[in-house]
Amino acid sequence: MALEKLFIISAIGVRLLENVFAVPVEELFDTPGIVAEDIVDDGGSILLPLGTQLSWLEKRAGQIIDRLKQSGIKAVLVRREKGLTTEELRELLAQAKLPVRTIGKKLAGGVVDAIGKVYRSIASGQGREELLSPLLAYGKTLSREIGRNPSILFSLLKVRERDEYTFIHSLNVSLVAGSLAGSIRPGNDPFLEQIVTAALLHDLGKAHIAPAILNKPERLTEEEFDQIRRHPEAGERLARQAGIIEPAILQAIRWHHEKWEGTGYPDRLRAEVIPLPARITAVADVFDALTAERAYKGAMPPREALSLIIEASGVHFDPAVSGHLLRSMGLFPPGTIVELSDDSLAVVVSLTRGDLMRPTVLVQLDGRGKPLQDIRLIDLRRSPHFIRKALSHLGKAAV
Ligand SMILES: [Fe+2]
Repeated sequence: MALEKLFIISAIGVRLLENVFAVPVEELFDTPGIVAEDIVDDGGSILLPLGTQLSWLEKRAGQIIDRLKQSGIKAVLVRREKGLTTEELRELLAQAKLPVRTIGKKLAGGVVDAIGKVYRSIASGQGREELLSPLLAYGKTLSREIGRNPSILFSLLKVRERDEYTFIHSLNVSLVAGSLAGSIRPGNDPFLEQIVTAALLHDLGKAHIAPAILNKPERLTEEEFDQIRRHPEAGERLARQAGIIEPAILQAIRWHHEKWEGTGYPDRLRAEVIPLPARITAVADVFDALTAERAYKGAMPPREALSLIIEASGVHFDPAVSGHLLRSMGLFPPGTIVELSDDSLAVVVSLTRGDLMRPTVLVQLDGRGKPLQDIRLIDLRRSPHFIRKALSHLGKAAV
């Protein structure tokens, strides 16, 4: 094999072509990439086929390395996937037209009124039955709405009174959190309902905080900020006093301000120790807060909010949950015309669950802009090519 003659001088392999490296067998699994040629043994059996994602085989790395060595193979051609930089992601998001749907004004108004009643009755120490039944009914209705379409839903309501913001925000957080729950555990209706209801109640502890502090455009004093920081614990206490025992609801209330790196409040929990309902609510909470219009700030476009959340993945947010937000938004929605890494042009035909960056595409024009004779459907997860950029959307102006 020609590669045996290569003198390997680098710890990460020798660069042969754009993004293609000859990687020593021992270092094969140290960096992600795609096998760029069929690796065969002397008997002609394929040991590693072209297009194999090395990350798929990580668990069997030791075994594969041994087998390659036994067959006398010293290096493998690997195409390194070009990871998107933050700048490139920003650019892609700037081009993307994100599908955001809304729910009916009547339903939204009903939910907001119910949340208002619940917050007020809980704050005044009233019982559970009165509290939960209308809210659970709305939880079911909203879950059904969310279940119909995985894209992010919003209410159309605008804040009319200052103290209404928390209720409208709670509704929006429940819609976004519900979309995320549906994407994280597809088909699990009880989980979706739990998350929707938990998110409706996540800021319950704010029931005791004066609207003047909640809506203050200026910088908060230390004392005011302390009050705000106490709302997760206060909320959990109020919920327990009202007889709420559902773990998902209590977890979302207490831990929705925890951060993935362990710098949040109130308990400085980190990573997966933070329960999933709280990690989902945290992403939905910030996404809605950024995209909401307040007296003191304009609404940020969804794609910018998404970009900020992706940048804060692994720091503030669970990267898996933010990935689901990206997917729910459909970074390359079906119909997007994309340029692939071999210069060919393709149309996105379906999204790939678990890998938004690599949908299935229909290649239309080759690298020189000539229409192809045969239609080629490519699942980019199983191809050495990747999307370089989105160009436009079928039937729409350039996005
Ligand atoms: Fe909160």
